[in-house]
Amino acid sequence: MTKKITIAIDGFSSTGKSTIAKQLAKQLGYIYVDTGAMYRAVTLYAMQQNYISDSHFNSENLIIDLNNITLSFSFNESLGFAEIYLNNINVEKTIRTIEVSRLVSKVAAISEVRRKLVSEQQEMGKNKGIVMDGRDIGTVVFPDAELKLFMTASADKRATRRYKELLNRGDKVNFEEVLHNVQERDRIDSTREDSPLIEADDAIEFDNSDMGLKEQFDRIMSLVNTRLGL
Ligand code: DC
Repeated sequence: MTKKITIAIDGFSSTGKSTIAKQLAKQLGYIYVDTGAMYRAVTLYAMQQNYISDSHFNSENLIIDLNNITLSFSFNESLGFAEIYLNNINVEKTIRTIEVSRLVSKVAAISEVRRKLVSEQQEMGKNKGIVMDGRDIGTVVFPDAELKLFMTASADKRATRRYKELLNRGDKVNFEEVLHNVQERDRIDSTREDSPLIEADDAIEFDNSDMGLKEQFDRIMSLVNTRLGL
């Protein structure tokens, strides 16, 4: 049987982690897990229950209610990736709004939330053959991953990508707001106490500010092939 590895992709927001992760998973026939979607879905739940808004956060109530949150992924053939379900409802689109983006870093800083999601992520990856992207995959979730990538790009490039994505979805946003959100999330994600966004010692850094998708994919695939002994 062909050897299977674990690929951990971390980095700042909107650095194209999910794009490369999806490409790799498709090429290798691996499972792809977007862990940011899991933190976003918990945030959406907290918003629906009125535990969090721009002006308040009742984290105690969210913690008590965590057992009532069931997250699952279901592969969508036409999209070519797995969509996330919150208590059996497809929330793939709802979790990408700027409202969720504004609050998610606060929810992701709660240790009880992280404990729940990290253990679910480790369970999904126990048989390897997985590409997972997030902020703590190479440092906390899979510290023994065979390949760890750390993605970066300038804040301006990242905000431009996210802005175009939101406009394409039909969301009404302005560029300044998106840029502010990207920078603010990076600040909270990098400075939180529990599992901050840091580069693992053995990660390979990719600054894709000026790198095309094809070049990036080819370079990363050659790293994968080395790990696979090919
Ligand atoms: O990848 P994303 O932008 O969809 O992630 C949303 C937020 O979730 C991000 O700002 C920080 C948090 N997150 C995290 O703390 N740990 C992860 N493994 C993935 C995401």
